[in-house]
Amino acid sequence: MPSLQTYSTFGLAAYCDSIQSFTDVASFLSVFNTSKNDKNAIYILGGGSNSIFTNDFDGTVLVNEIKGISHFDTEAHHYLRVGAGENWHDFVTLCMKEKWYGFENLALIPGSVGACPIQNIGAYGVEVNRLIDKVECVFLEAGEQVLLSNEDCQFGYRDSVFKHALANKVLITHVNFKLPKHYELETSYGELAALSEPTPEKVYSKVIEIRKSKLPNPDELGNAGSFFKNPVVPKALYEAIAQKYDSVPHFVVSGSTELPALQQQIKIPAAWLIDQAGFKGKTLNKVRCHPTQPLVLTNLGGATGGDVITMAKDIIASVQGKFGIQLEPEVRLLGSKGLISL
Ligand code: FAD
Ligand code: EPU
Repeated sequence: MPSLQTYSTFGLAAYCDSIQSFTDVASFLSVFNTSKNDKNAIYILGGGSNSIFTNDFDGTVLVNEIKGISHFDTEAHHYLRVGAGENWHDFVTLCMKEKWYGFENLALIPGSVGACPIQNIGAYGVEVNRLIDKVECVFLEAGEQVLLSNEDCQFGYRDSVFKHALANKVLITHVNFKLPKHYELETSYGELAALSEPTPEKVYSKVIEIRKSKLPNPDELGNAGSFFKNPVVPKALYEAIAQKYDSVPHFVVSGSTELPALQQQIKIPAAWLIDQAGFKGKTLNKVRCHPTQPLVLTNLGGATGGDVITMAKDIIASVQGKFGIQLEPEVRLLGSKGLISL
């Protein structure tokens, strides 16, 4: 049985029936249909930086290697069509070299271009949905190719239609981006706001520097980035917490700023909640809550799926008990039959 360990940046020891890569839709459909006829489960994988195999997977893992980048210009925009199997950070770096600006805040996020719409990747004040024009998909059952508009994708915070109505129903083959030639740099995030005379290149370099200082490098320490989403809570709950704790970090969720105060939605950093719950730096068997960013769980080497699940459940229960807030995983957790929830 082939090992999945190097196919997921968390690096747990897990096996599956078969791992096959594909470079175009025809070869994907051929493997997919064979697996389907044999009633085998399948899981589509990009760079494995958001997927944790907590157990052996009873099925076939299909690794997307559809490549290619094409580009054309209009007076106001750069248009890019990118194969889903391209590496995200390499693509962002190419765009910087070509002066196709807009992606600078999203530098150094691991993974593939094809996964970027799935959870609408975001960092340092920018979410990728603002740059996505269309997403090219193949519907798995019918083998039919479909073009989804930005609106069709129903993007939200770490969310899209690919996690709901279209979950496990499509292969993303290409992502089409539309970059306005004139736009405002996003420098509201603390350390970016301190840049003097910011340029896209300065933002790109600073984002890389911040990320390297806070986040563990998955090539050195297994991890999947933020393990949980930042929770969004009603203002009344935030205020109850703020009465008990000094200076609770928080952000009013955009879109609710215009509402009456008590209807506003407040995002509280999960890192702060986990830190307050006493997990920062804590180790359970071979899983550690990262000392400089407690929202990230790491594999110290030899961790098991059980260790990860136990640690995650402990954190959820502790934050729930202390603050009345239910943390939700951001990562995709896999068991023997496919995606699992905690
Ligand atoms: P995978 O783990 O391979 O797949 C993720 C999900 O998408 C799976 O459900 C998979 O089935 C599905 N999928 C993948 N490709 C396709 C396809 N072509 N068609 C259909 N379904 C597909 N995320 C952020 O948003 N912001 C960050 O700042 C950030 N920082 C990170 C830092 C580190 C150190 C790490 C390890 C991760 C970080 N992440 C971040 C999470 C991760 O990088 C992103 O979610 C990324 O988009 C995952 O890409 P991937 O190709 O590795 O996805
Ligand atoms: N904090 C603590 N203790 C700590 C560290 C942080 O209390 O030890 C608090 C601080 O108040 C800090 C706040 O947490 O201001 C937020 O921390 P940070 O700016 O590092 O970001 P985050 O909210 O924890 C989110 C994303 C990251 C993204 C960064 C930068 C989610 C789930 N995570 O993290 O995305 O890179 O912002 O924009 O939204 C990922 O999705 O995998 C990921 C890494």
